[in-house]
Amino acid sequence: MIIGFILNGDDVSARVEPGDRLVDVLREQFRLIGAKAGCYAGRCGSCTILLDSRAVPSCMVPAFAARNTEIITIEGFSQTVDYLDIERGFQRAGIETCGYCTAAKVLTAHALLDKNPDPDDEAIRAALSGIQCRCNEPSGLVAAVREAAVARQRRIYGR
Ligand code: FES
Ligand code: FES
Repeated sequence: MIIGFILNGDDVSARVEPGDRLVDVLREQFRLIGAKAGCYAGRCGSCTILLDSRAVPSCMVPAFAARNTEIITIEGFSQTVDYLDIERGFQRAGIETCGYCTAAKVLTAHALLDKNPDPDDEAIRAALSGIQCRCNEPSGLVAAVREAAVARQRRIYGR
């Protein structure tokens, strides 16, 4: 079947089969390889994308379910001013970044701050709980998201 959706701001269509996973459609048909194909079981989080503003593991989304949704991948998000807040926060906290989970962390942090501009540690830990990160302690990731929240507040409100 052919489905239409918005991908990084563009109207697109894709031919999908029952059983196709969204992560594979994004990687193979659109060459958006920022979403990594890791565990294919919803455990590692490396395939995270924004689907209608929610951070979700795209390996767990049937491709047909993307019909009429808005999808943002790290390739699109990294072109936005919102991305700069997250990048700044992560740099200030001094956390490690690597190709495995950084896109997932960035998109998840943004989805959280979009809903909750001043999350407490518990909310941050809960948001990040679906991402396996081998390079950072959980406390470092919490600090990074808090710094990103500060960066965003400063940009928006000048404080
Ligand atoms: S590949 Fe999707 S959660 Fe691991
Ligand atoms: S930054 Fe390397 S696995 Fe998370």
